[in-house]
Amino acid sequence: MIATNPIGLFDSGIGGTSIWKEIHELLPNEDTIYLADTKNAPYGQKSKEEIIHLSNKNTEFLLNQNAKIIVVACNTATTNAIKELRANYDVPFIGIEPAIKPAAVNSQKHVIGILATQGTLNSELFHQTAEKFQDTKIIEQIGHGLVPLIENGAINSPEMNQLLHLYLEPMIAANIDYLVLGCSHYPYLVPQIKKILPKDIKIIDSGEAVARQTKNVLLEKGGLNTEKHSVKSLFYSNADPKVLSDILSNKYNIMVKDF
Ligand code: DGL
Repeated sequence: MIATNPIGLFDSGIGGTSIWKEIHELLPNEDTIYLADTKNAPYGQKSKEEIIHLSNKNTEFLLNQNAKIIVVACNTATTNAIKELRANYDVPFIGIEPAIKPAAVNSQKHVIGILATQGTLNSELFHQTAEKFQDTKIIEQIGHGLVPLIENGAINSPEMNQLLHLYLEPMIAANIDYLVLGCSHYPYLVPQIKKILPKDIKIIDSGEAVARQTKNVLLEKGGLNTEKHSVKSLFYSNADPKVLSDILSNKYNIMVKDF
């Protein structure tokens, strides 16, 4: 592994920037390339075959830019395609999966909620993980419509608020004490979610754990960048980059390319 090469990340759109932010904070000396496959968002309702196809395409784009490691910054792509990606390409992959374990282990009430896409909740990988926690009741909820609203810049819209009420109220009624955000887009909804949930319900996602895992794998493979240089953070999108730019506080130039 060439330590000075960049870390590559991809997602169906802007959601994976929540992971990019964690990685950039933990590993500020690393160059990064972020790929938003905005043209094909959302991935959540696509077939496993389509998700594998898109994940291969995104990986190849990042490998052509010399990515030393690929972070699949999307739960839907991880749970449906990471096995195939690892079989197809000779590069380390870091995936993101819903944080069921820390929620189940710490839950006092033994009831947790998970909000994720249809693709994630229907995946074999998700079921395998969930089955390990037989003592915990897991209330699953598909976040239908949330990702398209986020991708359209409607995070604070009345439609968003309505959907969140619809999805969270049954979880509150079921007496959850943890809410797992199982989609990398959802951390951007935390302020609205907090207004709906009672204060004693904890919200968790996997962003920090993914950043730590990325660091560990780079360390293990001698791939951590220790060279002094001006750090490059590149962002690519294959559709209108406005919302991606906004979520990054307009600090980065987004390159638009048809990949
Ligand atoms: N951000 C993604 C995830 O973590 C994908 C959402 C989507 O495109 O439906 O699942």
